[in-house]
Amino acid sequence: MNHDLLIRNATVIDGTRAPRFCADIAVSDARIAAVGPLESAPAERDIEATGPIPAPGFIDAHTHDDRMLLSDPAMAPKVSQGVTTVITGNCGISLACSPAKAAQTPPLDLLDNEGGWFRFPTFAAYCEELAAKPAALNAACLVGHTTLRCAVMDDLSRAATPAETAKMRERVREALAAGAIGVSTGTAYVPAAAAPTAEIIEVCRALGEFGGVYVTHMRNEDAHITASIDETCAIGRALKVPVIISHHKCAGVPNHGRSVETLAQIEQAMRGQHVGLDCYPYVASSTVLRADRLSQSTRIIITWSKPHPEFSGVDLDEVARRLGVSQAQAVEQIKPAGAIYFMLDETDVQRILAFDETMIGSDGLPHDAVPHPRLWGTFPRVLGHYARDLKLFSLETAVYKMTGLPAKKFGLTGRGVLQAGAHADITLFDAETVIDTADFTRSTAPAKGIHTVMVGGETVWVDGRATGARPGRVLLNERVAKRP
Ligand code: ZN
Ligand code: CU
Repeated sequence: MNHDLLIRNATVIDGTRAPRFCADIAVSDARIAAVGPLESAPAERDIEATGPIPAPGFIDAHTHDDRMLLSDPAMAPKVSQGVTTVITGNCGISLACSPAKAAQTPPLDLLDNEGGWFRFPTFAAYCEELAAKPAALNAACLVGHTTLRCAVMDDLSRAATPAETAKMRERVREALAAGAIGVSTGTAYVPAAAAPTAEIIEVCRALGEFGGVYVTHMRNEDAHITASIDETCAIGRALKVPVIISHHKCAGVPNHGRSVETLAQIEQAMRGQHVGLDCYPYVASSTVLRADRLSQSTRIIITWSKPHPEFSGVDLDEVARRLGVSQAQAVEQIKPAGAIYFMLDETDVQRILAFDETMIGSDGLPHDAVPHPRLWGTFPRVLGHYARDLKLFSLETAVYKMTGLPAKKFGLTGRGVLQAGAHADITLFDAETVIDTADFTRSTAPAKGIHTVMVGGETVWVDGRATGARPGRVLLNERVAKRP
């Protein structure tokens, strides 16, 4: 029998962190049929890979792509980087399932700046639409606690009542049964800040039964970060489920350098429970515009503004000058809006990226008018800038952090490795030239050095262009998927 595809004479990085090796890769029926010396094997199509390195398709461990999957299914910001699977619904924010009013509630407006996207009555309805109108790449979806609060509570400034908690718990159960891989929270944001630890534990009760993960944009990432890590770990222990700390960072000048302390704390916790973390490779963060970030940031760039779209891409100090007001007053005048905040320390970013268990997640915001460059640049930046140029870690380790490691942490069976039997999600990249080109002035420039990207054996990106193929799947929770 002929294979569908043979990648010949390749130097393979297989996603397990093993050193690269020479092999051919055969693909049949959307799976990897064999990896090894296969010179004489017949195939419908050949790729001569003496230059580019085949690796497992990258898994973006932290995204807000819930809506882009439907509104822009080519997913160019991600496939152009070699990403073949995105984890959606992070930071407590998922599209399913909340009523339309969610779009007026920051930070949920990050997913819907035009109105009409919060229209899924159930998580199953969202998964069904995604399966019926597939995107170019795969999605594994989290359900957001803030979204659920918005769906069942009329006043978000307080803890949920027992009745509201029960309703959210039921919705989590519905989501997990429909295929969600876990729950995310965003207690750092106003609409979930009043939720006590006990509310989160009760809402997430079904996670253990379904083998889901608890993922969190923690309550605090600056002065009280160690208390937040403790809270996260306590929730994981109470529920007996793995926890994942999103976009780990130490924000604000007084906290620079504290990653020494936080990583030691995380390492200690890992001895007794499952803890994961992800990180984006930049010293600037990005989210909705918030006055409380003024004192923590050395520079703020506006990414979008509903009343003042002309300020997209403009520094806040310039906005304040043009409006003739203080920066704090400018924030109030141009809200709702989004911003990039320079508030991290390069040494911390490198220390966190280099930590053995750290996954790579872009945290890109696809609907911002002038987005943070992480949306288009994260993965090539880790490969080209941090691994190759700065030698922060080997290329094998860099690939592992974006493939085998997230597949393991999120329970994505048969992904993240180039081995016989695995799904044929494959990215070929040029180790010498791969690099991000998006920066804070040209924020949507596509990366260089990503040669070919395949999802389930179908090519979705080649020679700098999308092919139009839409082989993406909704990846189910592996324990749910295993049920008869
Ligand atoms: Zn977040
Ligand atoms: Cu996020």
